[in-house]
Amino acid sequence: MKLSHNSDRVLIFDTTLRDGEQSPGATMSHSEKLEIAAMLDDMGVDIIEAGFPIASDGDFAAVKAIAEAAENATICGLARANFKDIDRCWEAIRHARSPRIHTFIGTSPLHRAIPNLDRDQMADRIHDTVTHARNLCENVQWSPMDATRTEWDYLCRVVEIAIKAGATTINIPDTVGYTAPQESADLIRRLIAEVPGADEVVFATHCHNDLGMATANSLAAVAGGARQIECTINGLGERAGNTALEEVVMALKVRSDIMPWRTGIDTTRIMAVSRRVAAVSGFPVQFNKAIVGKNAFAHESGIHQDGMLKNAETFEIMRPADVGLKETSIVMGKHSGRAALRSKLNELGYDLGENQLADVFVRFKSLADRKKEVFDEDLDALMRDQGADD
Ligand code: KIV
Ligand code: ZN
Repeated sequence: MKLSHNSDRVLIFDTTLRDGEQSPGATMSHSEKLEIAAMLDDMGVDIIEAGFPIASDGDFAAVKAIAEAAENATICGLARANFKDIDRCWEAIRHARSPRIHTFIGTSPLHRAIPNLDRDQMADRIHDTVTHARNLCENVQWSPMDATRTEWDYLCRVVEIAIKAGATTINIPDTVGYTAPQESADLIRRLIAEVPGADEVVFATHCHNDLGMATANSLAAVAGGARQIECTINGLGERAGNTALEEVVMALKVRSDIMPWRTGIDTTRIMAVSRRVAAVSGFPVQFNKAIVGKNAFAHESGIHQDGMLKNAETFEIMRPADVGLKETSIVMGKHSGRAALRSKLNELGYDLGENQLADVFVRFKSLADRKKEVFDEDLDALMRDQGADD
């Protein structure tokens, strides 16, 4: 999909199976990758980065199988800036309904030193590899790795070269999570304004979370004109991870009043994909993770529970159903109040008068002081003891 820099649509590019899988220990099996790709395809992800085909025969086979199975999404494979990587990538994705080659090279001074290329040599390499990729595939994404630490004049120069050589998407990676929202917006805005040919391509943002700003930086880049967000489920990714898909998608949905850009994601599928990615990657989701954490829709304190029982909007800005959860959970613990206890006991089938409730409440508080969470079975036991005393 070709979007202008002021379109109201933002493409979602999911790289759970590539950048996400690069987290140490997050390796997924062939069948697990296919299963996750099918879930991403069904939920409306626009582009799935399925892997890095040259990395191993297993990665090649997974990318190829995903490319052949995908029904809706564009399937993308990653390749370094050399012909061998690009050819292998094309071999893996060529049978997709909509294939994309993504080729990259580190352009900051630190990264240029690794292959020992000077500025001109690297510029030539970019020209040659993007041209080669474009001769194979109509849809080519190019990334200057570590863009946010690349000198401004050199970044403009190489972006222009990549566009002239045929790139259709220019991705601006904040590889080490170094940028901040204002800078992220300005960077994209200035590239669009100053690089010849910028209007012919889609700009993408690819943020890492080393300073905890990946979501904010991605949304700021969209404000600056980026129309593709690169992200992963649960924010899986190297070090502190990548931008979390569920966070950018829900932020755009909940705050469409100030961020008027829409995605094609069916948000009711978020929870199921999140749980499956956590299970297959072996990376559990932290309890207080935005959107998909166990506590994201849970309330323990008395004031919050009382508010929630009267009107859910008091303490929730999204409905659980919007992300595919059945309901909010009211967690019973030492901060819970009488209204929540009454409501919970009603749910369990107990209908108590005021005096009885007052008695049970005292026992409940003393139990809650000893236990982190009071479960339904604990309340049943409390009610049995209460019956014995009455
Ligand atoms: O973070 C990064 O720079 C990357 C590139 C390969 C796009 O993942
Ligand atoms: Zn990355």
